Amino acid sequence: MTLFDLRPKYRREDLFDREEELKELSKTVEQGKPLIALIGIRRVGKTSILKTFLNEVNGIYIDMRGIVRRSDLELRVSDAFSSTLDKTRKFLEGIRGVEILGFSVEIRWRGRDSVSFVGLLSEINKKGKRFVVVLDELQSVKPPLSAELRNVIAYSYDNLENIVFIVAGSEIGLLYNFLGYENPLSPLYGRYVHVVTVERFDRDLAREFLVKGFREEGVEPPREAIEIAIDFFDGIVGWLVFFGRKYVDGYRDFENLKMMAVDLAREELSKLSSREKIVLKAIALGNNSWSKVRSFIAEKYGVVLPKSTLSRIIEKLEMLSIVKDYRFLDPVYREAAKTLSP
Ligand SMILES: Nc1ncnc2c1ncn2[C@@H]1O[C@H](COP(=O)(O)OP(=O)(O)OP(=O)(O)O)[C@@H](O)[C@H]1O
Ligand SMILES: [Mg+2]
Repeated sequence: MTLFDLRPKYRREDLFDREEELKELSKTVEQGKPLIALIGIRRVGKTSILKTFLNEVNGIYIDMRGIVRRSDLELRVSDAFSSTLDKTRKFLEGIRGVEILGFSVEIRWRGRDSVSFVGLLSEINKKGKRFVVVLDELQSVKPPLSAELRNVIAYSYDNLENIVFIVAGSEIGLLYNFLGYENPLSPLYGRYVHVVTVERFDRDLAREFLVKGFREEGVEPPREAIEIAIDFFDGIVGWLVFFGRKYVDGYRDFENLKMMAVDLAREELSKLSSREKIVLKAIALGNNSWSKVRSFIAEKYGVVLPKSTLSRIIEKLEMLSIVKDYRFLDPVYREAAKTLSP
C-alpha cells in the first residue's frame, strides 16, 4: 500500500503520523476504560487509525453504515470474526452457538443453541483478556436497532470488564446524541466516555505527507502545486490523498481537479433538504450570523424562514459536523455549498 492508496490504511508502516492517537487509544484500552469515542470530520483519517489499532490488539471492526436490521448487524459481526479468525479464534472456542469451520466461523443467532450479540460478548469477556469492539459510523444506525445497541453498550459498560467499545463517527453531534450520555432517558446516561479527537494535519505535516506520497509514486510536482493543493484542501488527509492520486494519474490541471473534489462534496450534500441547502449556501457565501443568514435568504429567495426553523436547521448542520459557528469545517464542502441550488 502507498500513502496515496484510497482505501483506509491498516498497517502502521502505511499510516502517516498518528502515533499520538494510537498511543492514546492503547493507553485508554489498557486502563480498561469501557467506552471510547473517536471523533473527527469526514476524511480526516478515523477509519485508518481504528483499523491500524485493531491490527495490533484483539478485537473486531464493524462498519455500521447501511446496517438497518438486527440481522444486518449479525451478518457483519459474523464476517468480522471470520476475517480475523487467526486472532479471534481463541476468543470464540467453546462458545455455544459458535462453530469454527476451518477458516470461517458460523454463529447461530437464532433458534436452538443460539447466541445473542450480548451473549457472545459475555462469553468473550470470560476469556479474561481485553477485547475491543469498534463500531465505525455508529450514528448512522436508526431506531429501533439504535436503542438495542445502546443497551448492549450499556450492559457491557456495567458488566463486561474486558470488553472495550470504541465508537466512531464523522457526524459528531449525532454520535453524541446516539450515545445520549447527557440524556437521562439513555441507558448510557451519566457514563464516562473517553473522547479521542482526530484533527486535520497542520500545514507542515500536510506538506510532508504530500512530498512523501509523491516520492513513493516517483512523481515530483512543482513546489507550487503542492502549496496550492494545501491552500485548498487544508490538512484533511482524505482530500490530500484524492489530490495525490489524481495528480499521479495524470490530472495536472488544478482547476479541473478541484472541480472533481467539489462535485464529490456536492454529491454528499445532496441528501440535505432544499431549505437546509439554502441555509448552507448562505453560510458558504459569508453570512456569518443567524440574522445575516435569515435576511440573505429573504432577500435572495423571497423566503422568510420561521425563526425556529432556521435555528433547527443550523443546529442540524452543526450536528452533522458540516459547519460550526457559521464556518465550514471542510473548505471543499464550502465550495460545494456555494453551488447548491434549492
Ligand atoms: N494517517 C494516514 N496516512 C496515510 N493515509 C491516510 C491516513 N489517514 C487516512 N488516510 C487516507 O485518507 C483517506 C481517508 O481515510 P479514512 O477512510 O481513514 O478517513 P475517515 O475519517 O474514516 O473518513 P470517512 O469519514 O469518510 O469515513 C483514505 O484514502 C486513507 O487511506
Ligand atoms: Mg471512516
